[in-house]
Amino acid sequence: MNMNFAIDTLYDTRDADGDTLKLLIDTDDSGYLFAAAAKRRREYYGTDIYIRGLIEFTNYCKNNCLYCGIRAENVSAVRYRLTKDDILACCSEGYRLGFRTFVLQGGEDMYYTDGVLCDMVSSIKSAYPDCAVTLSVGERSYESYKALFEAGADRYLLRHETASPEHYAKLHPKSMSLENRKQCLFELKEIGYQVGSGFMVGSPYQTLDCLVEDLRFLRKLEPDMIGIGPFLPHAGTPFNAFEKGSLRRCLNLIAILRLMFPYALIPSTTALGTIHPDGREMGFMAGANVVMPNLSPNGVRELYTLYDNKLHTGSEAAEGLSELRERVAALGYNISYNRGDVNRDCRV
Ligand code: 5AD
Repeated sequence: MNMNFAIDTLYDTRDADGDTLKLLIDTDDSGYLFAAAAKRRREYYGTDIYIRGLIEFTNYCKNNCLYCGIRAENVSAVRYRLTKDDILACCSEGYRLGFRTFVLQGGEDMYYTDGVLCDMVSSIKSAYPDCAVTLSVGERSYESYKALFEAGADRYLLRHETASPEHYAKLHPKSMSLENRKQCLFELKEIGYQVGSGFMVGSPYQTLDCLVEDLRFLRKLEPDMIGIGPFLPHAGTPFNAFEKGSLRRCLNLIAILRLMFPYALIPSTTALGTIHPDGREMGFMAGANVVMPNLSPNGVRELYTLYDNKLHTGSEAAEGLSELRERVAALGYNISYNRGDVNRDCRV
């Protein structure tokens, strides 16, 4: 099959059959694919790159995902929790720097009951009514999601991690289920959140068929945000000896996601920046339009380690915004200081 024809068809129809997708996921000749994705992204979002201030507020987690450095059984992890005052201080600094979205991310830490989290969310919203609050705190009950939404949370990030039940079972302990995770995502949508999902690229045992299943699942969910990044091993996990994911595959998938979901907010993730010094720039060139610099207090950044060698000083840090601004300007993009909500309509 002619690859450029397949890309044109994907651009026009926003879909492709499984064999075509597999071909595109693995191509070494991505120029035309990236150009199509860049064009589509401009039609919806112009040259804007949206910024989110990421506050990693707890690295306690009750789960034992086999890939993740903050899994409960990793006894070598040094654990921390931020207080409401700590978090409000992060927001204050973030607001000063120009952030209008705060992402509260953490492990599944039962210390943060609905009462504690709702209070946190409503305090941030009343101090910064022009800002969006995004939560990323894993699987919770419908009632909990509803209460948090009513407290003012606008968005929720919950990657499905893999849409293949067999693959899911290889990455997670028996106590966790893909079904529950999917249900959470549909509940979040129903409640009214802007919802983000996504998956790791190159996680152990992942096949091309798994990735096609991921794309098919996203088609059903139609999330507002889609986050992907390469799997990176962490020494304190059972997956310590596995190979890291492929940068190429990850970039190809960002471009495919842009073409399948033109309206989506797609971050160029810290994991991409970790796997290659210019990884995040490459992500933007492949169609990503969001970046989430770290706003966590300096002392805890290196403790929130989902994988080894995570970046935590430089343009991925919130204080590095001016460096980031220069880096994206060199690519023809600009940092937007708007809230950066999803845009479902083509602008041109
Ligand atoms: N490598 C890459 N990404 C990881 N995540 C967790 N552990 C790893 C790892 N070892 C991702 C998961 C999670 C997100 C917050 O970080 O996809 O949803």
